[in-house]
Amino acid sequence: MAGMTMWWTLLVVCVTVLAVPSPRETQKWSKISEDEIVKLNTESNADAPNYKIGVGIADITGPAAEVNMMGYANPSQVTGGIHLRQFSRAFIIADINKPDNRAVFVSIDAGMQDQLVTLEVIKLLQAKYKDLYSIKNIAISGTHSHSGVAGFLEHLLFQVTSLGFIPEAFHAQVNGIAQSIENAHNNMVDGNIYYNSGNLTKSNINRSPSAYLNNPKEEREKYTANVDQLMTVLKLVDKNGGDLGMINWFAVHGTSMNNTNHLISGDNKGYASQLMEGYFNKDVRPGKGKFVAAFASSNLGDVSPNTQGAKCIDTGKSCDFNSSTCGGKNEKCIAFGPGVDMFDSTRIIAEYQYKKAMDLYKSATKMLTGPVSTVHQYLDMTDQTVVYNSTFWGKTCKAAMGFSFAAGTTDGPGAFNFKQGDTEGDAFWKFIVSFIKKPSAQMVECQKPKPILLPVGEMLEPYPWGPSIVDTQMIRIGQFAVVAVPGEFTTMSGRRTRDAVQKSLMEHGMSNDTVVVLAGLTNTYADYIATYEEYQVQRYEGASTVFGPHTLQGYINQFVKLSEFLAKGTEAPTGPIPKNLLSKMVSLLPPVVFDEVPPFQKFGGVAHDAEKSYKRNTTASAVFHAGNPRNNLRTGDTFMSIEFKDPKTGNFSEMFSDSDWCTRFYWKRTEEILGYSKATTWWHIPPTVPTGTYRFRVYGNAKHIIEGVKAYDGVSREFTVTA
Ligand SMILES: *[C@@H]1O[C@H](CO)[C@@H](O)[C@H](O)[C@H]1NC(C)=O
Ligand SMILES: *[C@@H]1O[C@H](CO)[C@@H](O)[C@H](O)[C@H]1NC(C)=O
Ligand SMILES: *[C@@H]1O[C@H](CO)[C@@H](O)[C@H](O)[C@H]1NC(C)=O
Ligand SMILES: *[C@@H]1O[C@H](CO)[C@@H](O)[C@H](O)[C@H]1NC(C)=O
Ligand SMILES: *[C@@H]1O[C@H](CO)[C@@H](O)[C@H](O)[C@H]1NC(C)=O
Ligand SMILES: *[C@@H]1O[C@H](CO)[C@@H](O)[C@H](O)[C@H]1NC(C)=O
Ligand SMILES: *[C@@H]1O[C@H](CO)[C@@H](O)[C@H](O)[C@H]1NC(C)=O
Repeated sequence: MAGMTMWWTLLVVCVTVLAVPSPRETQKWSKISEDEIVKLNTESNADAPNYKIGVGIADITGPAAEVNMMGYANPSQVTGGIHLRQFSRAFIIADINKPDNRAVFVSIDAGMQDQLVTLEVIKLLQAKYKDLYSIKNIAISGTHSHSGVAGFLEHLLFQVTSLGFIPEAFHAQVNGIAQSIENAHNNMVDGNIYYNSGNLTKSNINRSPSAYLNNPKEEREKYTANVDQLMTVLKLVDKNGGDLGMINWFAVHGTSMNNTNHLISGDNKGYASQLMEGYFNKDVRPGKGKFVAAFASSNLGDVSPNTQGAKCIDTGKSCDFNSSTCGGKNEKCIAFGPGVDMFDSTRIIAEYQYKKAMDLYKSATKMLTGPVSTVHQYLDMTDQTVVYNSTFWGKTCKAAMGFSFAAGTTDGPGAFNFKQGDTEGDAFWKFIVSFIKKPSAQMVECQKPKPILLPVGEMLEPYPWGPSIVDTQMIRIGQFAVVAVPGEFTTMSGRRTRDAVQKSLMEHGMSNDTVVVLAGLTNTYADYIATYEEYQVQRYEGASTVFGPHTLQGYINQFVKLSEFLAKGTEAPTGPIPKNLLSKMVSLLPPVVFDEVPPFQKFGGVAHDAEKSYKRNTTASAVFHAGNPRNNLRTGDTFMSIEFKDPKTGNFSEMFSDSDWCTRFYWKRTEEILGYSKATTWWHIPPTVPTGTYRFRVYGNAKHIIEGVKAYDGVSREFTVTA
């Protein structure tokens, strides 16, 4: 056992090894030592508990093979393995005196949350808990990782590149989210919540600065940066001050991994969560520990983690400022992160967020006190009248995408002849698109100056291409309010919303120290929300502001209205209820037909073995005959492990799984017709693991023509790791 303790305690190193900050950097940040954490746990925060708190985590990873990935809309970007699993992290906070008064905040390592997913999660929970959980008190927010699967969203536009709806992806997400909430429900204890905030630099940049510059000068002058650097942290502890979990909100896109990646990953926020959870949950694999840390999204619409900015990949020069093109071509203008490659960039942006969150967590002393309340209302965003002043008013429109939408962004440029900042539109595409659907004259007028590429709000067959009824929701915990928004608010959109809501909450009786955060991509995905001024410029974010120029003000008015219900703890009318479209979904992705291995081989058999010996801080790998990972997602489990041989007993046990930072699981169909495929296990050996004997193990399920799906596993040769 002593031997075990020794190497178990070293496990965290997987996460910090590749990730270890330089000594100088370490000093710069928190200098958190083991001692300080222990002190934190035992000494401080013995305040009388104000809330009941539950935290839970569950795996939502979709199919690790053959499924289009969500975010870049690139049909050739399909899954082929796992770097980090994706998790749902749930936090239930209840009034200690009236525990049925509860709010549930869930952060998922996914591109966004979809309305149909939300509806099905609630169905599952209500089957168990009746009305304790409902659309009213559950907010589910996507971190916006662009390295998860697509196919779980209900609107057709988001299914075009994924060949329709993908039931396995959808159910993995629905079940995982419900499971995380159930885990939180079963863990509820008395405790307290502290908040803190601070600015994090070097971690985000504005990817559409020319649009931001169109906002009024007086407004811009109130801020030092064209992105929000503010990170707001909630620290959740039990009644003895023991650490339960953390939620923070910080605005940055999950696009550190770029559109050439095929491995499932939680991107920078998912990895930041694993780092913090790894710190508190020392000896357990990712997603298995008690302490849950969510790095949630916020007003990230125009915010990129690729902090080196965009440049022309052919000339190395700056791209055209207004259109993000190089010699007229958008696909040559690409933004890069701070690292040597996309993995390294993911690590760096994750570490910055993790370190800041840890500092703020450690020093959080402002305690939340007061009631828990939630308010939810469905809103038809195609039909809102917006009055700015006595002479200026407008209406929201049926959803439409502008031409710049197809140009993509500098985080992942589109491949065709589109450019950003386009208020004219390309003639060829106008022609192509006219076959899909011509926008009505009314829509063209309403959406001006957007040249309409896809009038999604008027495309209803075989089911709607875009959203119309969206969720709007707010959560209150004492003097803390969460505005749960159904899309990607740009920096300035988020600031305007927070300010308006804070003012309204205080006017309706909340205290003068009320804190407001914006939780992005929550409950429904209704694309982008740019300001009226940014909309005029029609870069990607404006082109993707689907309900027209007055979209933002429509939302602000709504949240100002909901603030009164939230502050007073009263019920808002339900609003128009959206249809559940589940039975209408069309899936065109072919199923796995069968898996096969070459003659005289078996599933899990070694195709290319590991070497006999490796030095630490190098990379080991082995290749196996495999089945298709779609046969069984191995939810909450793993497709591979690194096993260490206990020198005393000779027994092997798992040291790392497919969700650890230092491992990668690759899968590839090698023979389409014969049904062969190969899985590669990859391990960057951390410099701090014990020397000794190791081996790879793979797990999987193969689809046999006659016997159906059967599980298999296999091991590589034993290999030694030397200093
Ligand atoms: C963060 O920066 C903003 C301006 O960019 C400033 O107003 C605010 O006070 C800063 N917040 C903290 C906690 O330092
Ligand atoms: C970008 O566009 C604005 C407005 O049309 C113009 O004033 C500005 O000069 C342009 N900037 C560059 C660098 O082309
Ligand atoms: C993606 O990142 C890789 C490095 O990891 C780089 O070689 C490639 O050029 C990047 N591609 C895009 C489109 O950003
Ligand atoms: C109304 O708002 C518009 C746009 O911000 C502005 O141009 C106009 O002067 C305002 N009118 C009044 C009466 O405030
Ligand atoms: C906030 O409210 C508290 C208590 O009502 C009061 O003492 C304090 O002066 C107020 N602060 C501000 C800045 O208004
Ligand atoms: C690990 O190897 C990399 C180069 O591959 C090197 O930069 C780094 O310093 C090494 N780390 C340790 C702890 O030896
Ligand atoms: C090692 O494995 C053997 C047989 O599998 C088992 O009986 C024994 O308890 C294991 N020892 C330890 C220390 O886990």
